[in-house]
Amino acid sequence: MPYPEERPRRLRGSARRRAMVAETRLHRDRLIWPLFAVPGTNIEREIPGFPGVHHHSVDRLVEACRSAVGDFGLRSVLLFGLPESKDAEGTGAWAEDGIVQQACRAIRAANLDIEVITDVCLCEYTDHGHCGVLTPELPNRPATVDNDPTLELLARTATSHAAAGADMVAPSDMMDGRIGALRAALDDEGHEDLPIMAYSAKYASAFYGPFRLAADSAPAFGDRRTYQMDPANADEALREIALDIEEGADIVMVKPGLPYLDIIRRAKDAFHVPIAAYNVSGEYVMLKALAAGDPLAEERLFLEATTSLCRAGADLVITYAAPLVAKAIR
Ligand code: PBG
Repeated sequence: MPYPEERPRRLRGSARRRAMVAETRLHRDRLIWPLFAVPGTNIEREIPGFPGVHHHSVDRLVEACRSAVGDFGLRSVLLFGLPESKDAEGTGAWAEDGIVQQACRAIRAANLDIEVITDVCLCEYTDHGHCGVLTPELPNRPATVDNDPTLELLARTATSHAAAGADMVAPSDMMDGRIGALRAALDDEGHEDLPIMAYSAKYASAFYGPFRLAADSAPAFGDRRTYQMDPANADEALREIALDIEEGADIVMVKPGLPYLDIIRRAKDAFHVPIAAYNVSGEYVMLKALAAGDPLAEERLFLEATTSLCRAGADLVITYAAPLVAKAIR
């Protein structure tokens, strides 16, 4: 037989043929779009350093959700909130009229067919920017997040989101035992059917930069390495995910996405629950910069990134480019 004996290029000969044998298929149902609620009215302000991503007042956020469903066919959003004021405990996180609570009620009132997922964390609400309440500073130990007292505050936050109409909560704090604490509190208040999407393998990453400006949540001192994971670790990610599933997580997340494709794949192989991947702010801004305003390049970059996350094993992808990707695959 003449060389070459095998010709893999045959199956790449046309767009039609490539589509027939594509192993990974994106679908709008898999996309989750993060949104940032801010106090005020009629605000839709692009966030500096975060092109194409906006701060929305609650009224405009409802319109963004309407457009997500109507114009782009998206199914779900992930809500973050910037409170009017911050304090040491982050009381704004569970305030009855807190910003995320207001947003949930407004979206519910608009009767939109959209899954409202809320990020549950205290870092946007604490004046020190850490993801929980702090331990006292001792001569031999700098202040850090006090795990167990923080659990109760996170649980309060989650139940208040549920009471305001959230469909699902997504704790991103990385405290030990938080999924169990949230599950118990939700069940206690009659929300036993409300799922938890756990940020299970969340790394202490330098790719969160634009988000921290957007959410005004950069730690005022130190960093998050005593609670978020060390990028050097993979086995530990599987232990974290196993714990969260044991404690009641319905969906588990790997975050960031692209630098952690190996973790996504290992999680997919090891567990049989839906896996979400968070294509975080720094990854998004990197791709935006690479596209340099060329819409075609942008589309190709975000399609490739999202496809890669799904190929690695993600069932769900959280991405700031959700509308763009949804439009491209329509
Ligand atoms: C809150 C939270 C963060 C992100 C999501 N939830 C920031 C952090 O942990 O500092 C980052 C998302 C992104 O970068 O897109 N804890």
